[in-house]
Amino acid sequence: MNKIKVFAPATISNVGCGFDTIGFAIHEPGDIVELSLRNDGIVKIKKITGDGGVLPYDIKKNTASVGILEMLKNYKDKTIGVNIEIRKKMPIGSGLGSSAASSVAAVYGMNKLLNNYFPENEILNFAIKGESIASGAIHADNVAPSLLGGFVLIRDYNPNDIIKLPVPQNLYCSVLFPHIVIETKKARKLIKKQIPLKKARKHFGNIGTLVSGLYENDFSKIKRSIEDEISEPARAVLIPNFYDIKNAALNEGAYGCSISGSGPSIFAFAKSKVSAEKIALAMKKITDQANIKSTIYVSKVNSQGPKIIN
Ligand code: HSE
Repeated sequence: MNKIKVFAPATISNVGCGFDTIGFAIHEPGDIVELSLRNDGIVKIKKITGDGGVLPYDIKKNTASVGILEMLKNYKDKTIGVNIEIRKKMPIGSGLGSSAASSVAAVYGMNKLLNNYFPENEILNFAIKGESIASGAIHADNVAPSLLGGFVLIRDYNPNDIIKLPVPQNLYCSVLFPHIVIETKKARKLIKKQIPLKKARKHFGNIGTLVSGLYENDFSKIKRSIEDEISEPARAVLIPNFYDIKNAALNEGAYGCSISGSGPSIFAFAKSKVSAEKIALAMKKITDQANIKSTIYVSKVNSQGPKIIN
């Protein structure tokens, strides 16, 4: 095989109480990366579509190529090179793990072309490296769920300690993406470096409760645990009408609602598809009233992660 096309999914990170530690994959949107091997050791981005011209062709600056470069640095055969084509199928700067999806699709596909030379844990490190170019920091709460699928907890890095969590059968996610761009790099600067002990205590309690809720299919626990003491209070100002949107979701019966990643997307949990669709529409009504364009997505948790497509 010397050619491959891979889809990698969008992800919801932080999930209220899990700043930089919890994330899950959804079915759509996502990114597509096409790779074709070359035998001159050169890595080249041939084409990028769907990005509105904003993504770099410089291989040292693009999340897809950086992950691949890192991989090839660790590969025995230095004549291996690759042409990369990136098809952005999801919004950039949306809080849905766009840079992570490109990075994951690229390294997952490249490893397949290298006959699965690298184990999963190393692939994850290459993808983390790729993603860090965009976010300016090492965090895996988008990359890990996009690569591994499902709900993922990142306990630690170096070495990675990644824990997969169970997903309740009827857990649905509604996402509202207001059409504004928030750069993760900038949004990370808003987070305070220290949190008071009282808030930290609440946070620990919430993470434990979320994990317990996922294990026990207990939606009441899931709902109670979606509280954010770290990121949401700092970043809500970046999203017009955030609290009105959140209240609309909760009033419509959402089992928790918060900012997805660094925003502006907002996620909410529901117990059925019908309810998730109603919640998404209730959230969208607020952005419509404020004359802000937005897109909604409704999805179950995506347990598969990346997939090879024809
Ligand atoms: N955990 C990261 C953050 C996710 O909140 O900055 C960025 O998508």
